[in-house]
Amino acid sequence: MTPRSAWLALSLTLASLAPGLAQAADTVRGGKLAYTCHGCHGIPNYKNAYPIYSVPKLGGQHAAYLVVALKGYKSGDRGHPTMYAQATTLADADLADIAAFLSGTEIKPTGRAVGTAPKASQTCVACHGNDGVGILPEYPNLAGQHEDYILHSLRSYKSGVRKNAIMSGMAAALTEKDIQELAKYYSSQRPGLCATDEIRKAGKCKGQ
Ligand code: HEC
Ligand code: HEC
Repeated sequence: MTPRSAWLALSLTLASLAPGLAQAADTVRGGKLAYTCHGCHGIPNYKNAYPIYSVPKLGGQHAAYLVVALKGYKSGDRGHPTMYAQATTLADADLADIAAFLSGTEIKPTGRAVGTAPKASQTCVACHGNDGVGILPEYPNLAGQHEDYILHSLRSYKSGVRKNAIMSGMAAALTEKDIQELAKYYSSQRPGLCATDEIRKAGKCKGQ
């Protein structure tokens, strides 16, 4: 092997290793950093006040999506004072570890929907699946999420409290009746999200 081809071979090996290395999140470290998060997300059915709605379930969510969401609170694209305060204390470099810990074991698509899909879901399935499992890691899983939280998040995209190029357009086209039917439908999909991965592993995730 000439020095040049040896160098080329080495670069190719490094290039193929790099993506794997970049994705290896440290869940133990993530668990320590996520300590304060449990005060709200670790308590099943914990409520946000003014307005009152359930704090979202994070166990089983896509880790890559949790990073997207945290960056949204940090940048102000998602308007929520408490989550803004939480997210700004976290360095971007820590987000992947925290997200990997909180998501735990990501739920997998079943391809089988529970119940009858509302008409308005026809445009959603391309990204959120017919069973509420996001088809890309950056698309949230909606399966089993709190119905009142889905309602609140869709209304937030519609009102502009949440700014997201894709979801603002999607929510703008929905009536209040569509929003209610979609929230009910996606929250009833199984297997679904759970407050935390620990609760899910212990089999204490209600209704699943
Ligand atoms: C005081 C309660 C509270 C604490 C503490 C808290 N959160 Fe939240 N979190 C919320 C509420 C309420 C929302 C929903 C906000 C909204 O309407 O967008 C939320 C939303 C989120 C979301 C978006 C979930 C989704 O489905 O889009 C993520 C991710 C998140 N929190 C992560 C964290 C992390 C990480 C911490 C700790 C560093 C944390 N939270 C601490 C109350 C809290
Ligand atoms: C082209 C892909 C795409 C389509 C189609 C789409 N979504 Fe989304 N959805 C996303 C992405 C990306 C996000 C995350 C946006 C953000 O960063 O806030 C999201 C976020 C959401 C959330 C917030 C989840 C949470 O945990 O906070 C809900 C609820 C939702 N979508 C429901 C729907 C519904 C209902 C439809 C159909 C009317 C739909 N989406 C269509 C990609 C899509």
